[in-house]
Amino acid sequence: MLNHKQLLYKILPYGCQMNFSDGERFAGQLERMGYKPAEKLENADIIIINTCCVRESAEKKIYGKIGEIKHLKQQKPDLILGITGCMAQKDGDAIFKKASHVDFVLGTNKMYDLPAVLEEIFASRGHIVKLAGDYDMPPNVEPAENNSLFAFVPIMYGCNNFCTYCIVPYVRGRERSRAPQEIVAEITKLAQNGVKEVTLLGQNVNSYGKDRDDADFADLLAMVDKIEGIERIRYMTSHPRDLTDKVIETIKNSKHICEHFHLPVQYGTDKMLKAMNRGYTTAYYKELVAKIRNQFPEASFTTDLIVGFPGETDEDFAQMLEFLKEIRYDAAYTFLYSKRSGTPAATMENQVPQGLKKERLHKLMDAQNEISLEINQSLLNKTVEVMVEGPSKTDPNVYTGHTRTNKIILWDHKDEQIGDLVQVKITHPQTWVLKGELEA
Ligand code: SAH
Ligand code: SF4
Ligand code: F3S
Repeated sequence: MLNHKQLLYKILPYGCQMNFSDGERFAGQLERMGYKPAEKLENADIIIINTCCVRESAEKKIYGKIGEIKHLKQQKPDLILGITGCMAQKDGDAIFKKASHVDFVLGTNKMYDLPAVLEEIFASRGHIVKLAGDYDMPPNVEPAENNSLFAFVPIMYGCNNFCTYCIVPYVRGRERSRAPQEIVAEITKLAQNGVKEVTLLGQNVNSYGKDRDDADFADLLAMVDKIEGIERIRYMTSHPRDLTDKVIETIKNSKHICEHFHLPVQYGTDKMLKAMNRGYTTAYYKELVAKIRNQFPEASFTTDLIVGFPGETDEDFAQMLEFLKEIRYDAAYTFLYSKRSGTPAATMENQVPQGLKKERLHKLMDAQNEISLEINQSLLNKTVEVMVEGPSKTDPNVYTGHTRTNKIILWDHKDEQIGDLVQVKITHPQTWVLKGELEA
């Protein structure tokens, strides 16, 4: 099927880590077909845009990118352009109407059909669409090897939660958990290839195993903790409603699971949490955080917050700022509510005007940045464990890495090697990064 010329691929991932991980599995399929990665987009023979549709802004950016590729296709008619992932699943055929230079569209549960789709395109060029009708358990497809210290491993697919603003359950289907043995085997192999940090992925990892009878999330964590060579284990996303005492206990008894709790709260008042269908109250959430802090006094906490959800008043917003001050997150990912058609919130009354949303977003970010800086300043002169990732983007003599609590640290390079665990004393804490000195 392949001719003598070396064919090159480029994958452009958008959205969350799940998409990034899917992108590596697309790469795996292509490499087993003989393709190699292209350094530049211009050199690629196949381009896959792995899309996200969680917010309208993501879609706009992606359609912009698809448009940009049109001129590449005019210069190079054999170039194959594929659109995959969540927006592909949502828009399907409609993508060809907006961009006729697209060759194929593959939905989220059809990503493993890539080789067959390419065969079809080589046989007779034309538009091809494959969308998930039913979301069954996808086959086990290995990612491409990438010599990285880090790997993202999906442990489950889909979501059952139907938060009222969110499109993910409609484009990723219901929860399906992978077999624990399969996950452990994959991570063992990754560790043998040099991976030291693994992030277990799912829309709600705390639901892992609810559709199986052999392991729950805590059991899986305990298994991964024993894998030789894995120094750090992270996981996302953890729905606050479903984080069990057994999971907290397992983290406490583990060696490698990091003391970083990403617990997306989404909002800081009970009225809004109810409207969002999150399934917990602010009181429950505060208790959960207190329970974790009691077990892990050094733990870091991060969250996701949405401003401008329908019905949000000045009073709600003021209460949310109070909530933030009470919890004191190390960092928060803040989003403007984006209407997603087909979700219950899209047709709710009292949509918040865009200008007001943006005003609130800026206030929220300012309040959070102040807290982040204060927390980081409290680390001054403390020594933290950092995994060496290599030179920073701006200066080859300044190295960078993360703490177990997921903070970014910078220091002057000596003779430490990539992948080493080193001790760094914090000398200049800032809001987003902390500078320090290597301890002898
Ligand atoms: N399953 C994960 C991640 C979902 S998407 C979780 O539950 O946390 C990542 C984040 O995008 C969400 O946490 C939420 O804060 C945000 N998000 C989802 N839908 C959104 C929408 N319609 N508008 C704005 N932000 C949204
Ligand atoms: Fe979306 Fe809620 Fe599922 Fe997260 S838990 S993917 S926010 S529906
Ligand atoms: Fe992820 Fe975006 Fe899909 S956040 S699950 S890529 S809609």
